[in-house]
Formats: sequence, structure tokens, C-alpha cells
Amino acid sequence: MTNASPQEQIRQAPLSLGEGPGGKLPVEAGRKARLAILLSGRGSNMLALVKATQTGILKDLAEVAVVFSNQPDAPGLAFAAEQGCPVAALPSQGRKREAFDAEAAALLQQYQPDFVVLAGYMRILSPAFIQPFAGRIINIHPADTHQHQGLHAYEWAFDNHLPETKITVHLVDEGLDTGPILAQQTVDLRGADTLAEVERRGLAVEHDLYARTLAALITTPSKTSC
Ligand code: GAR
Repeated sequence: MTNASPQEQIRQAPLSLGEGPGGKLPVEAGRKARLAILLSGRGSNMLALVKATQTGILKDLAEVAVVFSNQPDAPGLAFAAEQGCPVAALPSQGRKREAFDAEAAALLQQYQPDFVVLAGYMRILSPAFIQPFAGRIINIHPADTHQHQGLHAYEWAFDNHLPETKITVHLVDEGLDTGPILAQQTVDLRGADTLAEVERRGLAVEHDLYARTLAALITTPSKTSC
């Protein structure tokens, strides 16, 4: 547990993902990584990432290829359009998971993303989606994925009076929040006496950690090609 304020906690040293020397960068030098950002709701993480590509840590490293949603009326999709991002939607309601995922993957491939960045994309992904982007799908989760998986992580922390939660950025595999962890950051929840306050503290860390983790991923040579 840390005594630092939320503001102090999110201003930490740049992340290093620590791969060994001799690997390849996931994106060739001289071009920006293309991000496909996926959301189902309000899109605060998407907005933070868009801003990071415009004026922040991702400015020279990444660009938004598309913001995609399975919910055509997701508020985040409208916010993305206001920011000038290309947007696309495919309604998932009533669709069989594999068929929807195959169609969504084909749609996204038209935008040639280097990374598929899940930002509140509230779907369990089937192999039809994961295989075309294997090793290149990233998710952010409001808790340590070893302790809590799936939805409502802030409610879980609040209801259990946890003194802290650990925001986790991880690679996505075919399990529910089981992929390899890329970065984690602790949020001090002591004294947070409403769910709204728990979320406010957590989201401030999410917004910073996600962009920093992506920056580290893009600039870290990897032994496995992306
Ligand atoms: C965020 O808290 C994100 O970590 C969470 O959904 C919220 C989306 O908010 N994701 C998960 O719980 C994934 N298991 P946003 O739409 O404002 O970015």
C-alpha cells in the first residue's frame, strides 16, 4: 500500500516492459503504431488515449486508426467522432458470438491496426476474434486480474472495503482476464466512502497507465513479432 495521493501515484517513471535485447520493434521505425480502440460505453479510456496521441506520451508513437463499438449508440463512439477519429460500429445484439467476432475482426482488419486496444469493450472474445490479432490485443481492468475477473471490479473493491485496488493492463488471450500482465498500478482506496470516489480515483490511474503501457509496448523490442 502506498501513502501517495492519486495524483502522485499516476506520475511515475516511464514503464519498461523489459524484453531482452536483439528483438524487433513491433512497429517499424519511422511510422506510428495504428490503434483500433474498442468500447461499449462511455469511453473515458478511449478519450484519454486519443488525447495521448494528440498531445501526450503517444504523440510521436501512435495514431488512432479507428474507434469501434458493438453498441452503435455508445456515448464513446460519438465522443470519438467529435475528436475527429474514424469510427465504426457493428451491432452485436442477437448475434452468435463466433459469427459476430469474425465479422468484427474482418471489419477491423480493413483499418490495419498494429494493436487492438480494449477500452471498456464489454464482450468475451472468441477465437474468431483473437486469432487474427493474436498477441496484439490489450485490455485494461480495474483490479488485479489474479484476484478479480470480469465485470464490476470497482463495485467489488467498494463492497469489500478494500484498502486498494491494482489497475492491470494485460494481453488478451482466450480466457476471461487471464492473459499475461503488462503493467499494474496500485490505487489507494482508503477513505473513499462512495463508489463514485472509488471509480474517480481508479479511472485517473487507468487513463495514465494505459497510455504509458502502450508507449512502452510500442518502443520495446520484442522477441516475438507482432
Ligand atoms: C473501465 O473502468 C475499464 O477498466 C473497465 O470498464 C471501464 C470502462 O470505462 N473494463 C473492465 O472492467 C474490463 N473487464 P470507460 O468506458 O470510461 O473507459
